[in-house]
Amino acid sequence: MLDIPPKHKELFQQIGEAAESIDQQVYVVGGYVRDFYLKRSDSSDVTDIDFVTVGSGIELAKKVAKKLGSNQVSIFKQFGTAQVKHKNLDLEFVGARRESYRKNSRKPLIEDGSLQDDQLRRDLTINALSWSLNPDTFGTLYDPFNGIRDLQNKLIRTPINPEKTFDDDPLRMMRAVRFATQLNFKIEGETFAAIKKMAPRLAIISKERIIDELNKIVSSPKPSIGFAKLLDTGLLKQFFPEMVDLLGVDEKNGQRHKDNFWHTLKVLDNTARLSDDLWLRWAAIMHDIAKPPTKKYVKGVGWTFHGHDALGAKWVPRIFKRLGLPLDERMKYVQKLVRLHLRPIALVSDEVSDSAVRRLIFEAGDDIEDLMTLCRADITSKNEWRVKKYRNNFDRVEKKIVEVEEKDRIRNWKNPISGEEIMEVLGVKPGPVVGRVKDRIKDAILDGEIPNNYDEAYNYLLRIKSEYESQ
Ligand code: CTP
Repeated sequence: MLDIPPKHKELFQQIGEAAESIDQQVYVVGGYVRDFYLKRSDSSDVTDIDFVTVGSGIELAKKVAKKLGSNQVSIFKQFGTAQVKHKNLDLEFVGARRESYRKNSRKPLIEDGSLQDDQLRRDLTINALSWSLNPDTFGTLYDPFNGIRDLQNKLIRTPINPEKTFDDDPLRMMRAVRFATQLNFKIEGETFAAIKKMAPRLAIISKERIIDELNKIVSSPKPSIGFAKLLDTGLLKQFFPEMVDLLGVDEKNGQRHKDNFWHTLKVLDNTARLSDDLWLRWAAIMHDIAKPPTKKYVKGVGWTFHGHDALGAKWVPRIFKRLGLPLDERMKYVQKLVRLHLRPIALVSDEVSDSAVRRLIFEAGDDIEDLMTLCRADITSKNEWRVKKYRNNFDRVEKKIVEVEEKDRIRNWKNPISGEEIMEVLGVKPGPVVGRVKDRIKDAILDGEIPNNYDEAYNYLLRIKSEYESQ
């Protein structure tokens, strides 16, 4: 039986015929073939397909475009590659390459090669699988490095000596960890040892390429698999030393604090179970990031991490910038959740006032639900009774938030009185007084001194007017 998915059979046949007409061999290679055997895709969500040809990738792309009636061919001469757009697909063509070394130079010469030459230059055995598309061998699988066996045994392995594979492109070390995480595969021993040895080589890779792989790890069903491997291989400390610093447990007077690295990973996995949102997951990664420098042992109290929420929020921009993460409202969202992550817990006690709840809703705004999700994910106790108790407490806090919000409409709150009005009523010019009065009105509403509406706020302004008129 032919392995080729029926959905693309006709397309592949046409590509095979185009290649035959210019006397070239052509193969499908890479993620498309891998995902077919993994049943990760039914080919309906495929957006790009990689083809390798023995001969010119550019010439073949031109022929294919003509045959498919597509006039969208992009040629990248310096790389010897070309792309044809066909319906919703990007078809990428490259000529098979091989490297040869000249006597007096370590710099390899890239020249045309066979299919096998091309396969052994690829990153992983599971990514080197290829199907032939020429008419007489249509659908034949070429798997010289036992990629199918590695798929069955759930193993990440390089086709050749891993040190050579990673030397060619150190990003492949990140890719190995990324695929191990997405697929829940093991990294084979020699491959793992090579990553460990060569981790510092990641330094030559741009932050954009690294963060692409890291975000794929963060977006996986169980991101902790990847972070544990990034830690063990030494890759993590290359680009995210603050996270490595979370590792370790101190003991004083028989009291130990929890290991904040493994705790963070549990919170991240819990968050991943509750939400697909990449930035909520980043908030989980960052929520305790400033625990190490705020750690203190206080007699009679135990270990404290006072202020780690505020300091962590302060660190977010620097870390985001270094990692190449966006510095826009997504960063501000992460910052906000890190800053507020302890607040809902403080609302657990019975006698908590409505005004404390109002303040939290005011500060969290539309992100209040995400904040609650993060806080729930932050419950990582091994004691089931405790977990149950904490969860019940959170149910109560959540109910309270809903009640207060229904009553007072604080979410997305805007001061009912404008600066213009304040200036008019007080007869003052623009200046700091306007801001102070605005804050007074805000506090009066959040503290429940006055209801949240225009008339009450205006009357309040008239009442406090005399305190400011002389200023
Ligand atoms: N490849 C490689 N080394 C890299 C990147 C890619 O050898 N650093 C090869 C692999 O054979 C890979 C193919 O190029 O299968 C296509 O790469 P890419 O499109 O980035 O990844 P896919 O394997 O298609 O997987 P995914 O779409 O999940 O990223």
